[in-house]
Amino acid sequence: MVELDFDIRDEQFGDRREVWQVNAAAFGRSDEADLVDRLRDEGVVLLSLVAELRGQIVGHILFSRMFIETAQGTLSAVSLAPMAVRSSHQRRQVGSYLVRHGLDRLRARGERIVIVLGHKDYYPRFGFAAAKARYLSSPFPSDAFMALELSEGALSEVRGPVRYPAAFGL
Ligand SMILES: CC(C)(COP(=O)(O)OP(=O)(O)OC[C@H]1O[C@@H](n2cnc3c(N)ncnc32)[C@H](O)[C@@H]1OP(=O)(O)O)[C@@H](O)C(=O)NCCC(=O)NCCS
Repeated sequence: MVELDFDIRDEQFGDRREVWQVNAAAFGRSDEADLVDRLRDEGVVLLSLVAELRGQIVGHILFSRMFIETAQGTLSAVSLAPMAVRSSHQRRQVGSYLVRHGLDRLRARGERIVIVLGHKDYYPRFGFAAAKARYLSSPFPSDAFMALELSEGALSEVRGPVRYPAAFGL
């Protein structure tokens, strides 16, 4: 079923409690919900979007600033994490709209690289690929660690370790 009634909009201050609940409910634990709060506190949030359906927040996605340390210098990139859709509203494209809308907004701002650690069967549909991240070192399993170029060639010749915001506790 395709749900067409929801809006994607920027998170507002008053949404914070509901955003926490959406993340905690979708993940079945509070770790990711608390991560969102820590990323806000750290001041590294680039974009935080919610999907709203008839006044209820049913999905959330967050993008934050991260870096790639290359031999030539530090390169800015964007971390996609976390994202969550209430279980009652999953598989209705809410997650897909959040990802695509977020990527469009980031591209319009001139961001060039987005990195995600996630389900290897989910993110490739948006253009993420483990192969794109193969020269980036991270503490994560290689098939779940994926990258996307918002600008063609943005990852060409890019090698080095990634540096996540401190909020991730890596
Ligand atoms: C992952 C998640 C955000 C997807 O949101 P969604 O609104 O259901 O996604 P969409 O409706 O846009 O896409 C549905 C597709 O996602 C796939 N999908 C959902 N969860 C998946 C998973 N864990 N692994 C692989 N594919 C998954 C479904 O199979 C479905 O594919 P299909 O339509 O081809 O059958 C949502 O399932 C969720 O909140 N899960 C719990 C939290 C989580 O795992 N977040 C992501 C961390 S990387």
